[in-house]
Amino acid sequence: MRTARQPSAIPRDGVLRSSKALLVRTATRDPVPVILRTTQLILRPFTADDGPGLHSYLCQERAVHYEPYGVQDEQAAVRLAAQRAQDDSYWAVCLESGGDLIGNLYLAASGPEQWRTWELGYVFNPDRWGQGYATQACRGLLDHVFQNLWGHRVLAECSPENIRSWALLERLGFRREGHVRAGASFASGADGEPVWHDSYLYAVLDTEWESRTRILPTGRLPRDGDQLGVCSSSSVACESGSGALSTTR
Ligand SMILES: CC(C)(COP(=O)(O)OP(=O)(O)OC[C@H]1O[C@@H](n2cnc3c(N)ncnc32)[C@H](O)[C@@H]1OP(=O)(O)O)[C@@H](O)C(=O)NCCC(=O)NCCS
Repeated sequence: MRTARQPSAIPRDGVLRSSKALLVRTATRDPVPVILRTTQLILRPFTADDGPGLHSYLCQERAVHYEPYGVQDEQAAVRLAAQRAQDDSYWAVCLESGGDLIGNLYLAASGPEQWRTWELGYVFNPDRWGQGYATQACRGLLDHVFQNLWGHRVLAECSPENIRSWALLERLGFRREGHVRAGASFASGADGEPVWHDSYLYAVLDTEWESRTRILPTGRLPRDGDQLGVCSSSSVACESGSGALSTTR
């Protein structure tokens, strides 16, 4: 069982060190970028050069249909890449083989720091849907939240119509906590009144992640009704500064 890190155990400089490597910071913004590696993916900070990669999917209506913005042209994507390079809430998700940018994750603190709650978001290139990349990327980032950032709860919201999104959350082990009625508006209608949208609220706790991410002896992800065995093959490697840590559960 994972032992929770107590606040008193965090050094004054906010940096936790393991015997293997410089490991973790408690704040979101890191002086040294953190890069996560999963089996096939690299999760890294955006750079100003990511404009064309970002454009390759943000120009597609399917990718942005449920986002609070529309399709992006090349110039807008270049500007967005430059903005995201300054905002470490955004993670560029790249194929390890070839380095193509195939999507992005969003991870930001939600609520007071002591709640240790984070919000997750994601957009992937529709050309790469249906291959498990979003699942793999999110699992890598969630491992990072719960193992390295002392996370307690991660939440996500999505439209009830966005079946791929909530299917992803359920595949990851999030619980649906509620159906928020008319809780958000991103535009006004012809009458000038806000157009309200419903959303599903999902969340997963550290304790749930610990048990849910156990891997079946077959190596496949658990489904409802499976008897979970001892974990064996989930791994995410975290690089930060001079050291690299590989955690295997
Ligand atoms: C939400 C989104 C990231 C989900 O993408 P996705 O391709 O459905 O998710 P994954 O990459 O995890 O792939 C899952 C699919 O791959 C299959 N798959 C294959 N190998 C897999 C593996 N090893 N692990 C998991 N799934 C695997 C799954 O069976 C599933 O198949 P399905 O498409 O028939 O259901 C994507 O639809 C998206 O970017 N949407 C636009 C942005 C958006 O709406 N964001 C959310 C706003 S709230």
